[in-house]
Amino acid sequence: MVWGVFFSLLSLGFYAELRQGIMRLLSHLALCVATLLALPCWADDQGQAQFVDHCAACHGLHALGGNGPDIQGTTLNDVVISTRGMDQMPAIDLSDAERQAIAAYLMSLAPEIAAQKLRFEAQITR
Ligand code: HEC
Repeated sequence: MVWGVFFSLLSLGFYAELRQGIMRLLSHLALCVATLLALPCWADDQGQAQFVDHCAACHGLHALGGNGPDIQGTTLNDVVISTRGMDQMPAIDLSDAERQAIAAYLMSLAPEIAAQKLRFEAQITR
């Protein structure tokens, strides 16, 4: 009887520890997943901030147009070309990372247009 109680207490302790271990593992996993999910959002935020700083004055806060045209869905290729300067648009000095972040943001605003542009670019560079 005494031993029975002793062993069941022992195994309770074991299970409690096991449960704690599993919970700890799960919370680590949850943290990892959350970090992975947050990374692209962070990139978008960077792109949005860069866009607002460098482009929104002419292309509108949501890239739907203003002084310049609607540029939602613009790919990296077009960001590179346009920021060299076009007739009505001045050249804009950006780092590679800034151009990439801006393109990622603009593509996220209109993924279907972006996908179409990418397909088109793949065809003409073949
Ligand atoms: C001073 C105003 C101004 C700023 C700032 C500006 N743009 Fe423009 N952008 C224009 C104008 C005006 C045009 C139309 C150019 C033309 O057709 O000659 C244009 C055209 C473009 C085009 C081509 C669109 C098309 O349909 O042909 C892209 C892409 C573009 N801009 C991207 C950007 C990005 C990215 C930024 C920020 C890094 C930016 N622009 C900042 C004025 C601006």
